Amino acid sequence: MVNNVSLKNKGEIFTLQKGKVCVGRCKLYRTNKHSAILGNFIVYKRYRNKGYGSVLLSSVIKTRLNIMLWVDIDNPVAYRLYTKHGFKQIGMGSDKLAILFLKQKM
Ligand SMILES: CC(C)(COP(=O)(O)OP(=O)(O)OC[C@H]1O[C@@H](n2cnc3c(N)ncnc32)[C@H](O)[C@@H]1OP(=O)(O)O)[C@@H](O)C(=O)NCCC(=O)NCCS
Repeated sequence: MVNNVSLKNKGEIFTLQKGKVCVGRCKLYRTNKHSAILGNFIVYKRYRNKGYGSVLLSSVIKTRLNIMLWVDIDNPVAYRLYTKHGFKQIGMGSDKLAILFLKQKM
């Protein structure tokens, strides 16, 4: 169960803390006023499958930005996490990377 977590947003880097321990992080690269690219999304191994990824992603979504990201189609955990939070596949890049997009701004 996810408890005692706090989020630090230092500019573009989102860090998910459990007490003093960093359990995951990601980076949001702003491309313009309304949009960003999400990258380097990770929950550290021993904390996976406990819901931390969902908490981290929810916090990024709360920015209300349009968000684009690339995910390996052979990474079902990540793919499922993103689509569960409303991301839609809009294309395929190279090397089996699916392009996912979350539209939030008009
Ligand atoms: C992808 C990642 C961030 C997910 O973090 P997490 O904290 O484990 O995510 P959560 O616990 O919130 O959710 C995991 C979900 O995947 C599901 N899952 C677990 N193993 C699975 C599998 N083998 N196949 C499909 N789904 C799986 C879980 O049931 C859970 O779904 P649910 O919320 O509907 O129950 C983490 O696995 C990770 O850091 N992976 C390595 C880096 C990476 O791949 N990053 C993404 C780059 S695009």
